[in-house]
Amino acid sequence: MSNERKLTTASGTPYAENENSQSVGARGPLLLQDFVLHEKMAHFNRERIPERVVHAKGSGAFGKFTVTHDISRYTKAKIFNKIGKETNLFLRFSTVGGEKGSADTERDPRGFAIKFYTEDGNWDLVGNNTPVFFVKDPKKFSDFIHTQKRDPRTNLKSPTMMWDFWSLNPESLHQVLILMSDRGTPHSYRHMDGFGSHTFSMINAENERVWVKFHFKTRQGIKNFTDSEAAEMKSRDLDFAQRDLIEAIDSKNFPKWDMKIQVMTTEQAEQFPFNPFDLTKVWPHADFPLIDVGVLELNQIPKNYFAQVEQSAFAPAHVIDGIGYSPDKMLQGRLLSYPDAQRYRLGVNYEQIPVNRCPYMVSNYERDGAMRVDGNGDDSPNYFPNSFDDIVADQTYKEPAWDLGTGVADWFDRNGAGDNDHYTQPGLLYTKAMNDYDRHNLVSNIVGAMSGIEGPKREEIINRQLCHFFRANAELGMGVARGLNVNIDEVMSHLRHA
Ligand code: HEM
Repeated sequence: MSNERKLTTASGTPYAENENSQSVGARGPLLLQDFVLHEKMAHFNRERIPERVVHAKGSGAFGKFTVTHDISRYTKAKIFNKIGKETNLFLRFSTVGGEKGSADTERDPRGFAIKFYTEDGNWDLVGNNTPVFFVKDPKKFSDFIHTQKRDPRTNLKSPTMMWDFWSLNPESLHQVLILMSDRGTPHSYRHMDGFGSHTFSMINAENERVWVKFHFKTRQGIKNFTDSEAAEMKSRDLDFAQRDLIEAIDSKNFPKWDMKIQVMTTEQAEQFPFNPFDLTKVWPHADFPLIDVGVLELNQIPKNYFAQVEQSAFAPAHVIDGIGYSPDKMLQGRLLSYPDAQRYRLGVNYEQIPVNRCPYMVSNYERDGAMRVDGNGDDSPNYFPNSFDDIVADQTYKEPAWDLGTGVADWFDRNGAGDNDHYTQPGLLYTKAMNDYDRHNLVSNIVGAMSGIEGPKREEIINRQLCHFFRANAELGMGVARGLNVNIDEVMSHLRHA
């Protein structure tokens, strides 16, 4: 018997003709009864699913996480419960603003989304390659993203929209400076760090809670493109980062990152000089040093991009026992947004798609819905409580109560007194974290980007943004103003009156 497989329809019926449609005479019209023709055309017409509304362009790989240090005093999460323990994972990198076919080398943050397949369920850490973000309230997310996408009239990217928004939102400055530095154009996904970015919590076996931030330090070393190198690569190879990742893993040059955490006690959080749950700020490393946890390795390229990368779905809501949320407003917003997006993008049963499916136990009373393909609970009861099955709500998984110190519900100003310093950390980033080379490139990248601002509000937007740069650091403000040929005296008078 030959090993050849027979060509079949989707319903498994072998058929003989896959190139010629059935027609009346060699040159005549086609027959409706050529079902294979319909099936092929109809399936093709439905090949596209909605791309992710953000982070549409991405690359993924499977790998493993290995514990190297004991952090059980902070968390009871089983993934961390033994040195040497290995957990399988899937990681998807991405750019943010571009469409599915856009260039990998765009100036943009990069997504760094990890799905850990742990025995207590899938833990998704859906972070970026930057520790902070542009806004600190989820209500502002869609407005911000609109400015990064296309102009409604021209369908072009618009520096005017971007800088208009940023100049009106001083809380964005910290992330804008990172984006405008060469860190905004990483060489490839392998040569950048990853961050959980938000403040999360960890809960230990004694039910004590601490606040944590997650960091992933690249072992490949940080490597960035300059603005012109990134532009050059864009024209040479649109998919450079995808190619780089595949080539590295195919040649067994497995990329690795060291996972580290910062820890803040609840008492320290109360004494902290600013809001420790503000996503536009970092926790100073001098006060909250990095603690070693383990190493993450990528070692397998998915066999099928659509099945495993395009259909992957990450959700910040997916935490596991021993890891919890925090009052970070952005995180709170994201808890709702991702599963909602995925029900739309992939359908209500998206958790059953193999890349998303928990390889351990899933037992609940959710039933039916489009594309239910896992047996739908067979003949087991579909209601709770019941007298027939053995599913229990295990109280040992209950999180300790939170004392959040306020019972007042209101629309609080996210930039109220004590939360309105938008300039100290960007200033430190410029003076302390960057060297002369970084600073030079930062200014030239900003000048290049802001030169694209156009229209009747050009001067107003530029002046407003210059005020933010000056407030962070006078030299930075001067450098950008000079590059844009702006009259400094005029800006300074704005600054005095602002
Ligand atoms: C309120 C703020 C935010 C909202 C509402 C939001 C919403 C979304 C949505 C709807 C998606 C597409 C999900 C999908 O279709 O699977 C997405 C993707 C993503 N977001 Fe956010 N986002 C927010 C902030 C952030 C922040 C702060 C980060 C990083 C720290 C982040 C990182 C990502 C990543 C990495 C992806 C791609 C995940 C993947 O590879 O599938 N987002 N976001």
